[in-house]
Amino acid sequence: DWTASSFIETEIQSIREQVGDRKVLCGLSGGVDSTVVATLIHKAIGDQLLCIFVDNGLLRKNEFNEVLDTYKEHLHLPVKGVDASGKFLNNLEGISDPEEKRVIIGNTFIEVFDEAIAEENDFKYLAQGTLYPDVIESVSFKGPSATIKSHHNVGGLPEKMNLDLIEPVRELFKDEVRGVGRELGIPESFIGRHPFPGPGLGIRVLGELSKEKLDLLREADSIFIQGLREYGLYDNVWQALAVLLPVQSVGVMGDERTYEYTVALRAVTSVDGMTADWARLPYEFLSEVSNRIINEVRGVNRVVYDVSSKPPATIEWE
Ligand code: XMP
Repeated sequence: DWTASSFIETEIQSIREQVGDRKVLCGLSGGVDSTVVATLIHKAIGDQLLCIFVDNGLLRKNEFNEVLDTYKEHLHLPVKGVDASGKFLNNLEGISDPEEKRVIIGNTFIEVFDEAIAEENDFKYLAQGTLYPDVIESVSFKGPSATIKSHHNVGGLPEKMNLDLIEPVRELFKDEVRGVGRELGIPESFIGRHPFPGPGLGIRVLGELSKEKLDLLREADSIFIQGLREYGLYDNVWQALAVLLPVQSVGVMGDERTYEYTVALRAVTSVDGMTADWARLPYEFLSEVSNRIINEVRGVNRVVYDVSSKPPATIEWE
């Protein structure tokens, strides 16, 4: 029978055997999956592990600093924080196709990792928190033409990197990874975090990205997520997100006509992210969040709530 503790024991054994005395680089994303992977590998090989947490400019408000702190102070992981936001935004300039964005973001991560270990040549492995649903939704059973979304962390590494992948949770579902994380002593506040996609807000600003649009979305998203916490609703949903739509619409503010952006809010319930239903959030809550976003976020004059389930919609809009 599968249990978190037997999984941990077996994985630690096999990581030690596989890695020997080489070094492992682990890309941390701020999410549960990569954190569990890093903690597991740290337990197995100690300071043969180096973690990298990249600010790609696509993270939530204050997320980089807060999460970096948690990694260091609470989880005691050997982690290096790298600000690469300029590089990511540069590489993404003018790109509006969702799959192109994913490829560029994935490649830019690799570039940044590559630079981070350029001076040391004893790195042999790259560890990632790829989950089972990432694998099946990306490398679909029916072949590449049936791919739903190419999760950037699935699909291998460029030859030149000379690193082999370690993906210890590749066969697990999210709830199992959370179980492993609890068993490893990762704080509940971290275990309970909603999933957040590797490409981050890059696939939530629909179409072309800009720093201004990302900042605007960061504000709206923060009001939504803070609100969920204040109302005690955060743990009732699988995931909640704000999306910045690439359309403007007419509104009125005082005596003035406005012509500004729309933010779509989405919250879903789900067991594994493979199917999902829209969350029946209370009207008073939605009303308050909508008012706050429109009043406090410059450039937004309309908020809508997404009432689609997956399938046929997906959780993310891109
Ligand atoms: P969808 O939008 O396909 O999302 O219903 C299912 C789950 O996967 C997350 N997601 C991603 N995660 N890289 C990731 O690491 C990606 O490119 C990506 N696309 C979607 C999404 O947030 C949801 O939890």
